[in-house]
Amino acid sequence: MESTRANSVGADLHLDLTGSRGRSDLVEALHDSIRSGRLLPGTRLPSSRSLAKDLGVARNTVADAYGQLVAEGWLVARQGSGTEVARREAPITRTQQIKPAPPTYRYDLTPGSPDVSTFPRSEWLAAARKALTAAPHEAFGYGDPRGRIELRRALADYLARARGVRADPERIVIVSGYVQALSLLSEVLYAEGARTLSVEEFGYDLHWDIARSRGLDVVPLAVDDQGARTDQLQGQAALLTPAHQMPIGVPLAPDRRTQAIEWARTYNGLLIEDDYDGEFRYDRQPVGALQALDPERVAYTGTASKSLAPGLRLAWMVVPQALLEPLLAAKRTADLQTATLDQLTLAEFITSGHYDRHVRRCRLHYRRRRDRLVELLAVRAPGVTVAGISAGLHVLLDVPGDAQDMVDRAARQGLGIATLDRYRFHPGKGERQALIVGYGTPPDHSYSGALDLLCQVLAV
Ligand SMILES: Cc1ncc(COP(=O)(O)O)c(C=O)c1O
Repeated sequence: MESTRANSVGADLHLDLTGSRGRSDLVEALHDSIRSGRLLPGTRLPSSRSLAKDLGVARNTVADAYGQLVAEGWLVARQGSGTEVARREAPITRTQQIKPAPPTYRYDLTPGSPDVSTFPRSEWLAAARKALTAAPHEAFGYGDPRGRIELRRALADYLARARGVRADPERIVIVSGYVQALSLLSEVLYAEGARTLSVEEFGYDLHWDIARSRGLDVVPLAVDDQGARTDQLQGQAALLTPAHQMPIGVPLAPDRRTQAIEWARTYNGLLIEDDYDGEFRYDRQPVGALQALDPERVAYTGTASKSLAPGLRLAWMVVPQALLEPLLAAKRTADLQTATLDQLTLAEFITSGHYDRHVRRCRLHYRRRRDRLVELLAVRAPGVTVAGISAGLHVLLDVPGDAQDMVDRAARQGLGIATLDRYRFHPGKGERQALIVGYGTPPDHSYSGALDLLCQVLAV
């Protein structure tokens, strides 16, 4: 490849152009210059006339290339002052505001956490002892950025069996939490030219902030009783919770799954599947992973945060082949590799059957809690409608009053609950008065007290 320096009036433009100088060569060279940071946001480009002259091409070739890049959002055309590189938030910025630590409640029914008192301490300890005793010396050194092969093999087996994922240990990457999976994927998507990520209109603002901090614009998809409205997909990638929409609680309907895959195939898009609590389904067969429909179009992510404990900071991704290399490069620069000793323990925990047993035990535990909650509400707060009960660790309650008012009253009495609005992409725009109640969160000894207070608040 030869370099061409175009000395146009007002700008000295260095472009890597091969011998051919068609519109697509020019588009590609400009893409590369912007992506690599050689052309900074705000840089004014030469006029199409002068660049065409410098390059010895027709003016239309340059004008068309500029037009395409403007349409894609790389450049902006300013009336009267030419064309410049789009000013975007720097792709790698830290979240601007430091959010205060969430309040702690005497009774906590806020969603997001499992009952951490169920953590299987003695089985984990036994698995750790066994794994560390058996580990080769090299396990304590620097290693594969994908993570330990023992864990990747164990997960490939488990995910295929329990979640229907098409998993190859070579394509599994161990990360520290789903949040890191999302951060790395956003970084890679941005570097490859993606600018817009579709997300469900209900979810975690933390996750949207992560994608934004990597330079992506985040746009909401409506959610109804069939899950995300996949007919509204836009941009180059989408974030979905297909097994159990967080927080509405519905699975993504089969025809929507097909539609999402079709969209990804048609537009060369990527679907990021957040399978955060796929293990916890109570009344029906588990809903299988979307990834099985097209492993080249879906980046599957799972986490130990619901099934074991958020404090482990262990999660896994099954990555399309085309993304594996850039993703590992991003992982390497993020933290080289996820800490290995807990990976070895989790591998042993899974292969010895403890993980399956623990998940089954927890499923029963949470199912009983859910049943108690539903029964009690029917008697003590009959005006409340309960939804999203067939899976996960939270329910959605439609309430006959002002939801924020109820949350405030609950907080004054030491009970943590959340409004549905809290998880809305555009808070305050919804009419629906609803609460999200995380029945998985409290330890056993405070569950009865938490339910009692909840019923008092809802009954008024
Ligand atoms: C929707 C959703 N995605 C992902 C996660 C897991 O995130 P992490 O693995 O970073 O703890 C959670 C929390 O448990 C969640 O509620």
